[in-house]
Amino acid sequence: MKASSLSFLIAIAMAIVGMAWGIDMAISQDHSAMPAHAHLNLLGWVSLFLFGIFYRLHPALDVARIARLQVFIWVAGVAILTVGVAMIHSGRPSGEPFAGVGSIIVLAAMLLFGWLVLRYERVANAA
Ligand code: HEM
Repeated sequence: MKASSLSFLIAIAMAIVGMAWGIDMAISQDHSAMPAHAHLNLLGWVSLFLFGIFYRLHPALDVARIARLQVFIWVAGVAILTVGVAMIHSGRPSGEPFAGVGSIIVLAAMLLFGWLVLRYERVANAA
């Protein structure tokens, strides 16, 4: 599957989970999970969908394994980070390592994405 399609599909799945979580917070009037909800929606829905648009704009990159790898690393990082943040804000400090590891993983995935952007924008500008 192309990296863009993968990004769009997983972004939609994360948006559905994030929005359902928002509705649950609103109904229960317990907003303690708000930081986890916000991270899931902004990293899992918004950022991932933006990655997908970039990959769709660069067809050669869209079919490259490195792009799919970047998406998988990002998704793993967002999932781990979200779980960690949710645990911390629900009174379980044992979530700290998850939040820490997840945040390093998403940073690594963003660095990889930044490198891909530099590489492929240079090619696009040279053409
Ligand atoms: C069905 C859809 C959604 C519902 C019902 C919902 C519900 C909520 C609720 C109840 C809060 C807590 C507010 C507070 O305690 O002050 C919240 C916070 C937040 N939500 Fe959502 N949300 C939804 C979708 C989204 C989406 C799609 C995004 C991002 C793209 C998003 C981003 C955020 C952010 C950033 C915050 C933190 C705001 C702050 O710091 O005050 N939410 N949401």
